[in-house]
Amino acid sequence: MKGRILSGMRPTGALHIGHLSVIQNWVTLQKDYECYFSIVDLHALTTGYEDRLDYPALRREIALDWLSVGIDPQKSAIFVQSQVREHSELHLLLSMFTPLSWLERVPTYKDQIQQLAKQGKDLGTYGFLGYPLLMAADILLYKASVVPVGEDQLPHVELCREIARRFNFLYGTVFPEPKDLIGEVPLLPGVDGRKMSKSYHNAISLTASAEEVKTRVQQMVTDPGRLRKDDPGHPEVCIVFKFHQIYTPEVAEVEVNCRAGKVGCVACKRHLAENLEKLISPFRERRAYWGEPGRVEKVLEEGAERARVTAAETMKEVRCVMGL
Ligand code: TRP
Repeated sequence: MKGRILSGMRPTGALHIGHLSVIQNWVTLQKDYECYFSIVDLHALTTGYEDRLDYPALRREIALDWLSVGIDPQKSAIFVQSQVREHSELHLLLSMFTPLSWLERVPTYKDQIQQLAKQGKDLGTYGFLGYPLLMAADILLYKASVVPVGEDQLPHVELCREIARRFNFLYGTVFPEPKDLIGEVPLLPGVDGRKMSKSYHNAISLTASAEEVKTRVQQMVTDPGRLRKDDPGHPEVCIVFKFHQIYTPEVAEVEVNCRAGKVGCVACKRHLAENLEKLISPFRERRAYWGEPGRVEKVLEEGAERARVTAAETMKEVRCVMGL
């Protein structure tokens, strides 16, 4: 084993294939690292405190998504953040020495407050200011050496390193400084060409049936200049081609045939739908297995137990050096 990994996602609803590369990256990392994957429901509450969401259902949904893509509970601990109380305790203890200015200067902080104010959300809260600190607690609790995240999360991992340094300076060395690991995330548009997002209704969900996959592909916009099947096409303006670039190994051939007007859009879409179906069908099978009553619950219980063992060890050290 090369070290420990901690990563997390907020349970905010069904994932779509735009999220796939992140989870597939985790699946690969499971081979070489001791992994902890957390469903961070407390983080979801920092922005959604008024929403009264059904967290047990949302947690089950995202756990099923992870399991269906291939996160293996034999290898990795899959657990719910709020069920391992040490996250909250470490967050509180870290808050004692974290300067307010460090939190206020996190690049996304003021921005997000403004963005969400437009949707009528007041994020001038203590909890939201502490969002990155809670994330630092998640990471440090497991003494993770590597944190796979999206690029948008880099300032948070940087802050986590600063918190670790300050803790070690004040109380003695307990925490390693974690490294970020940026996975390659291909830019995937939605079926209408805008960013893929559940709220735009342009996403292909990880739970899509074969029928839905076909329908979604049929909705994709192709080269508007190509009126007849044998007109030469322009793949650079075609959504179907953007998907082929990610999911079709023989993409070079697709491009040649399109430019030469040899393969029409209908056949080209059928080709893509077949490839997407190959991608998604194994997820469907694993989901059916894990979806049997009681299985996800057991995974999350065992995951939390494993997480608690590591978390409790760290907290023992933390309490001791802080003089508690
Ligand atoms: N803030 C992360 C996001 O929105 C989620 C997250 C919470 C996380 N705790 C974490 C990611 C710890 C990595 C490690 O994507």
